[in-house]
Amino acid sequence: MNVVVVIGIGGSYLGAKCAIEALSHSFSRQMNTSTAPEIVFAGHNLSEEYLCELMDYIETKNVATVVISKSGTTTEPAVAFRIIKQFLEEKYGKAEAAERIVAVTDAKRGALKSLSTQEGYKTFVIADNVGGRFSVLSPVGILPIVLAGFDMKAMLEGALEMEEQCAKRCAECNPAIQYAAMRDLLYNNGKSTEVLVTYNPKLQYLGEWWKQLYGESEGKDLKGIFPASVCFTTDLHSMGQFIQDGARIMFETVVSVEKATRSMIIAADEQNLDGLNFLAGKHVEECNAMATLGTKLAHIDGGVPQLEVKVEKLDAFAVGELFYFFEKACGISAYMLGVNPFNQPGVEAYKKNMFALMGKPGYEEQTAAIKERLASEK
Ligand code: PA5
Repeated sequence: MNVVVVIGIGGSYLGAKCAIEALSHSFSRQMNTSTAPEIVFAGHNLSEEYLCELMDYIETKNVATVVISKSGTTTEPAVAFRIIKQFLEEKYGKAEAAERIVAVTDAKRGALKSLSTQEGYKTFVIADNVGGRFSVLSPVGILPIVLAGFDMKAMLEGALEMEEQCAKRCAECNPAIQYAAMRDLLYNNGKSTEVLVTYNPKLQYLGEWWKQLYGESEGKDLKGIFPASVCFTTDLHSMGQFIQDGARIMFETVVSVEKATRSMIIAADEQNLDGLNFLAGKHVEECNAMATLGTKLAHIDGGVPQLEVKVEKLDAFAVGELFYFFEKACGISAYMLGVNPFNQPGVEAYKKNMFALMGKPGYEEQTAAIKERLASEK
């Protein structure tokens, strides 16, 4: 197999995307060095252009798909799956296509479960008591991460070690309690936005995964810290001004990696036209570390408190630690805030409007009401 299309959205997509981005060589595809299948994602948007371009890309490849949906009824992945299923059936025939399709879904309920049973797809179960955004350490994340060739055993060991630390019944030695308590304190002192900061582009999707986790778990009942994310030093040249000087509504949580895994020394230059010879002989990562420290001091001076989450190095073990840590702390934080971390009633509002606008059977009344509303607003 050279391409696996992983179909899913929200909690059924972001964890795997985060781990794969964090652990992949930034140029492995261009270098053609990986022996594992390439993972491409679908079902996380409703862009026709994206799907057309995906089809252009996979047309000549050896393709399989993993379709992930706990409810089995989410529109975005269901639309993408229809298209990929049809493509596989046309390319390989119905019987072989069925062998190239794996579903991760509820044990009993939902359209995807029924379809999988009917078509004989291999399935993995998302347990009833595991919510989408808390599911990366279940088959939802495990399957794509293993297919991408990463060390899931090490990731689970990292998660288990963090589970032990986060089970300690003492505030000083339990990192999840410390983080949740600090967030609560800052929120109650007017800090309504938390910015997750990383200094390695491979961690950009940690920010995306984390935003969903905290945004959907806490943002309800007119409460919650708005989660944002940046990747420095890149975003110091875009968001740095606002964070340093704008409305004082935010605090930062910096996820830093203590040891670099690669080494690159900055060279001396005879002419020194750029004036950078004072950096000659230093590691690029040392500049990154000084940028981290300099930014920390500047932001604290500017009224932006900083929390720090450190991992030793960026590997599967650390990714497992981060997943477990942020999930556990999220549950504690939400309960401190007085909201239920495990529901997401607000997500339904756009779906109702979309179904009404698209004339879904059963939505006739809403369709009439929304049409009337749009006509009166013209
Ligand atoms: O965290 C959640 O519950 C959501 O983000 C879901 O993961 C997302 O809506 C996808 O749902 P499903 O897996 O049912 O398709």
